[in-house]
Order: sequence, then structure tokens, then C-alpha cells
Amino acid sequence: MAAPKSNSLLLLFVVMFMVVVPTIRAHIAEYDDYWKAREKEAKTVAIDAFDPSPEDVNDDFNKNVEKSIFGKNGTRRNLKVNKGPCKATNPIDRCWRCRRNWAMDRRRLADCVLGFGRRTVGGKHGRLYIVTDPSDNDMLNPKPGTLRYAVIQPQPLWIVFGRSMIIKLKQELMVTSDKTIDGRGVNVHIAYGAGITIQFARNVIIHGLHIHDIVSRPGGLIRDSVHHFGLRTRSDGDGISIFGSSHVWIDHNSMSKCEDGLVDAIQGSTAITISNNHFTKHNETMLLGASDGYSGDIIMQVTVAFNHFGRGLIQRMPRCRWGFFHVVNNDYTHWNMYAVGGSAHPTIVSQGNRYVAAPLMDPKHDAKEVTKRDHATKAEWSKWTWRSEGDLMVNGAFFVQSGVPFKKKPFSRYDMIKAKPGKFVPRLTRYSGALTCWRTSPC
Ligand SMILES: *[C@@H]1O[C@H](CO)[C@@H](O)[C@H](O)[C@H]1NC(C)=O
Ligand SMILES: *[C@@H]1O[C@H](CO)[C@@H](O)[C@H](O)[C@H]1NC(C)=O
Repeated sequence: MAAPKSNSLLLLFVVMFMVVVPTIRAHIAEYDDYWKAREKEAKTVAIDAFDPSPEDVNDDFNKNVEKSIFGKNGTRRNLKVNKGPCKATNPIDRCWRCRRNWAMDRRRLADCVLGFGRRTVGGKHGRLYIVTDPSDNDMLNPKPGTLRYAVIQPQPLWIVFGRSMIIKLKQELMVTSDKTIDGRGVNVHIAYGAGITIQFARNVIIHGLHIHDIVSRPGGLIRDSVHHFGLRTRSDGDGISIFGSSHVWIDHNSMSKCEDGLVDAIQGSTAITISNNHFTKHNETMLLGASDGYSGDIIMQVTVAFNHFGRGLIQRMPRCRWGFFHVVNNDYTHWNMYAVGGSAHPTIVSQGNRYVAAPLMDPKHDAKEVTKRDHATKAEWSKWTWRSEGDLMVNGAFFVQSGVPFKKKPFSRYDMIKAKPGKFVPRLTRYSGALTCWRTSPC
């Protein structure tokens, strides 16, 4: 096809100009040859990851959701299929959760991701690495057995935990490419210290962690790979910070109370799926694109699916800039300012979510509107494509749409559930957050 090719070419030009724009908030005190090389490589991967026709990905996603709910031939799903307590209720989970041998076949998880991050395999082709030591005392020569030691290794690794533990990170955890951090089967908390940073990297899965009470740390000399360490400035206190990275899947984590965002993806990050997470007790929940002035975020493509945005959340679920955001089948039960917002003309397709507005405590405080546009006049934002399709609005919640509707494909099977798919959301998101599961039985 000719069209996508010329799109990529155009994009390449845009991105080439971006390189001269100084990188914002990189927290790299000394931009040495090592980081320059990593940035360059990460950008190439990100451009490759960018999909010039994102609607196709959405259709793909919707078909899978439909199969999960209605079964393969369009009839209602037979709930008796899952004998016993395990009921995987959405297509990502159905791919692995109720298998008795899931713990013997952990890498199967890597085949389960859908949406823009669907090519993420993490450490699928690497060895299993077992974290046995929760300490984090040496930033330059991390002790073998610690999480920090595991994530800086050059080869792909599937990282698991030998026992339940609380890891208090002294500084940001600098995760390198081709890693899976898999907290299934034990209870792992990343808490009361710095958060997880995926910077100029690709292909990372973070699954099954409790991430909370993350605070800003002063920075300093930190080893970011086996062959390099560098000086970093103060970290923001994000739970998970995705920076100039692509092919990232954040699934089934329980996240709350971080000093900055719970999940932030910025600086031209793309090909990301954020699914099955349970977010609570936080103000600025999810930032996708940090600057109206950074057009490099035009390649950003993010799927936000099956998450529960729950108790104590205030805003940014997510807050978007520039790119294309598919917000699908999430449960929104608490927002105090707004749920989905943005600036710099992002495209937002909201499908089959359930938006439950809070009862108004203070009539002056309008918490009924789902959406919020910043830094634009109505004449400007009315051209941005923000569409709500099949969302379930509860308690007077409303979504202010703008821009042109997406054209529908005839006979698309997801049209069937499009009429009221939002009502399935409580079921689809029932098991959001880190799962409690044993190695020997279905998860
Ligand atoms: C749908 O599948 C069920 C069993 O899975 C089968 O009994 C039924 O005949 C199928 N219906 C159609 C229309 O294919
Ligand atoms: C949340 O953050 C915004 C700034 O983005 C601030 O104005 C607001 O007061 C905060 N709300 C709470 C409850 O902390």
C-alpha cells in the first residue's frame, strides 16, 4: 500500500526535526554517547511501531472483546465453560488465566496482549530470572538476586519473584529492553521509594505488581545497563514512567498514591497497552504526552482497556496530547474533576466504557462531565476527534464529543455489542489489579 508508506516518510521528516529539539525532562544529567545511541535506536523502533491506520487495530480489538462475551459464533458466551472459581472475563485474561498450568507456562502471557501494545513479548525469548532479595542498596553494582540487577541485564529476561516482598527502591528502577516483570503467584509491592522508569527502551511487560506510595528521589549515579551508568537528576515520583519507549504492556497492576503520575507515557512513546489495572487514591492518574509543544508525540498510540479507575481518583484517566488513544471497556467509578481530557488535538475514541459520575456534593463543582479540553478555544477543539461510542453513562455523566465520527465498517461483528457494550464493563473489569493466585491452580 502506498499511503502508509508516504505517511511513514512524512513522519520520518517530522521526527528528524525533533531530534534537534532538546529532550525534555529526561532526568539524564549528562547526555553522553551511550544515551544518544539509545535515544536514536528507541526512535527508530518507535517509528516502526507507529501504525498509520489505527482504526484497524481498534476493530481487531473489538472483535476479540466480542468473541469473549458472545463466543465464537455470535451466541451468548456459555459461562459454564469455566468450571471452578476461575472466570476470566475478558479476552486478554481468557488467553491464560484459567489454565491450571499457567505457572509452568508463564511465557504464554506474552501471547495475550491486544491493542496497540500487541507486539510486546517482553522477556518471552529469554531465561527465567528469580528475584530473591528485596534490597536495593547499591545503585552502581546491584547485588545479584535483586530486581535492579535483573532489569539492567543486556539479554531478554522473564523476571519472577521467589517469594512475596516489599521493594523500596532507593532511586528510579531503570528497566532495559526485552524484559517481563511478572509478579504472579506472590505478593510483590514496589512502594515507599522511587518508581519504575522505561526510558529509550522497547518491549517491556509489567504485570501483577502492587505499586504505591512512590516518591520523588534525589537522583545521582545509577547503573542503567551492565555496561553503563550515569548521573540522573531528581525523579518525579511516577509509578511507571514510559519515556521515548515503544512496545510496552502494563497489565494487572494495582496502583495508588504516587507523588507524580501513576502511569505516564511521554516523549514519543508508542505501541502501548495499559490493561486490567486497578487505579485508586490518586490525583493526576495517567498522563499520555507531557507537552503541547512537543509534536513528536504525534506517533503516540495507546490502548487503555479493562482498567478500573476507582476510589479516590480525581483526574487524568488519561490526559492525552497529540496522538491516538483508544479508551475501551474501562470502568470509571470515581472522578472528581474529569475522567478523560487533553490538549494539543489528540484523537480519543472512547468505546464501551462505563462512566459513573459521583453524586454532586457541591453544585459548583461539576463532576458530571467526563471530558475536559485545555489550552484551546471551542473553535479549535471542536475540530479534535473525541468520540464516545457505546459508553454507558450513569448518574448524569456526559461526554462532550467533537470532531468527525469514525466511519463504521459494514457487518463488523462488534456492531452487535456496540449498542450497549458499556453494560458489560463490570464483568470485563471484575478482576482488575494484581491477581491473588497460587502457582498450582488457575489464577
Ligand atoms: C454455535 O455454537 C454452539 C456450540 O458452541 C453450537 O451448538 C451452535 O450450533 C452454533 N451456532 C451456529 C449458528 O453456528
Ligand atoms: C488535583 O490537582 C489539581 C492540579 O492539577 C489541583 O488543582 C487540585 O486541587 C488537586 N485536587 C486535590 C483533591 O488534591
